[in-house]
Amino acid sequence: MLDSRFISKLRLERPENALGHPWDIPALQALDELELHPGVTFFIGENGSGKSTLLEALALNVGLNAEGGSQQHRFSTRDTHSALHQHLQLARGWRRPKERFFLRAESFYNTSSYFQDQGVTLFPEMHGRSHGEAFLALMQSLKPEGLYLFDEPESALSPRRQLVFLVEMHRLIARGCQFVIATHSPILLCYQPCLCYRFGSDGIESIDPRDSDHVSLTRSVLMNPDQVMKHLKE
Ligand SMILES: Nc1ncnc2c1ncn2[C@@H]1O[C@H](COP(=O)(O)OP(=O)(O)O)[C@@H](O)[C@H]1O
Ligand SMILES: [Mg+2]
Repeated sequence: MLDSRFISKLRLERPENALGHPWDIPALQALDELELHPGVTFFIGENGSGKSTLLEALALNVGLNAEGGSQQHRFSTRDTHSALHQHLQLARGWRRPKERFFLRAESFYNTSSYFQDQGVTLFPEMHGRSHGEAFLALMQSLKPEGLYLFDEPESALSPRRQLVFLVEMHRLIARGCQFVIATHSPILLCYQPCLCYRFGSDGIESIDPRDSDHVSLTRSVLMNPDQVMKHLKE
């Protein structure tokens, strides 16, 4: 059967003498090959586990900028990305994405401001909106058959808007889009079907996101807030 994914697998070819950043990140030390889902693939794991480093390398590899933006609209204020993308091999399907976009939540504001200063409107009505509103406006303007890489999109969004995000993502997946998302959000991690990879100290493992700490810890805090707070304060 023909593979409809834009990217079906990513493979890391480690150079000899691979020392220092990013090769010292435990999850990446053990990385050989990762399969991506045709709809959405999640990267989860503790802070500093290497999710952004891999997502950024993927963005660079598909011709996007490490700081975010689309294939037409690229900019750079710094050059701090790792060399990982040079060692990433992508297995591609027969389709080519009609649009590509890399969003880093941390630099979304800077990216938007930069384009605003340049007189470029990335998406309709992006000005004069809050971070979350601007982000959802971007989401609503994304085109079908696109490849979208998002780093912690939830950081702009209220819980209710995270649900709206899921509705928009579902609509876009149904229209042939593929997403790779690094997230800590237990709400986003409820989306099915998906592939989910946990970045840890022993490498990267595929898990059911509903079994992740993100979901189970959040659930237990919300189920027993008083008990958890008492325990923390002790
Ligand atoms: N430019 C850099 N130089 C050296 N180390 C870096 C650089 N960028 C990130 N790191 C380190 O790489 C590790 C993984 O970072 P990152 O991919 O941002 O983690 P995550 O997104 O999972 O929170 C962290 O320990 C971080 O400090
Ligand atoms: Mg990160």
